[in-house]
Amino acid sequence: MEPSSGALGAEVVGIDLAKDVDDATFEEIYHAWLDHHVLFFRDQGITPEEQAAFAARFGELEAYPFMEPMSGHPHVIRIVKEPETKFNFGGGWHSDMSYQERPVKATLLYALEVPARGGDTLFASMTAAYEALSPGMQTLLGGLGAVFTASKVHGAAGLYKNADHPMTMKGDTVRAEARFVHPVVRTHPDTGRKGLFLDPPHVERFENMRIAESEPLVEWLGAWATSSEFTTRFRWRVGSLAVWDNRCVQHYALNDYPGERREMHRTTVAGDVPY
Ligand code: SIN
Repeated sequence: MEPSSGALGAEVVGIDLAKDVDDATFEEIYHAWLDHHVLFFRDQGITPEEQAAFAARFGELEAYPFMEPMSGHPHVIRIVKEPETKFNFGGGWHSDMSYQERPVKATLLYALEVPARGGDTLFASMTAAYEALSPGMQTLLGGLGAVFTASKVHGAAGLYKNADHPMTMKGDTVRAEARFVHPVVRTHPDTGRKGLFLDPPHVERFENMRIAESEPLVEWLGAWATSSEFTTRFRWRVGSLAVWDNRCVQHYALNDYPGERREMHRTTVAGDVPY
């Protein structure tokens, strides 16, 4: 296990995910995942079936609601950016599917085609970001709930309705307009550690506050939570797989490879109601 930064991330060596990972080895992987928040595996050669099977070791699989899955693989979506498209998927700090009543627990992303340079993914530890706040700010945030929704991204006038978007999104207006309140400071159900749970593209406002009242603090917190000290950056190669814990991590897919193609396979694992 080679840690990739002071805040989070570690590369796992010596594991072939195409072969059966025995229970004792998986237990070690799972504990390392809880410690490091995001794990990276290099030089894998896995099929969508093998990816889904490995993901299912982390928990029950959950399909992404706004895109058709790969044919024959209901829990794997293709995340593709074509050379001629400008927009990329996940190009802003966020936590996957946080707009649901039960935001997803884990995401597994596997690289099939990567640009010659660029296309890295950034990760930020929400545990580190919370722990570095002043006691006064921790107390203030501890009493706050935030209203999460997919509306700003997947709603009728949302970002992903942009015609330039490289991937076909399913219009699911009911789900896009749903709203759920989650605590801004979340307790990790496996470790008991507290962390920020804030995802600016999917947060409308704080509970019982107006958008205008919430916005400055949401913006400040978003910037704080993704300060360089709390991050790591992963350079993809074909065959790399990352698995991150959305309960304590935000991530950001960089869009810095114009004219090149990038293709990934993504699987998500169901989570609990945050508390
Ligand atoms: C995502 O947000 O799930 C995609 C991340 C990436 O493509 O690097």
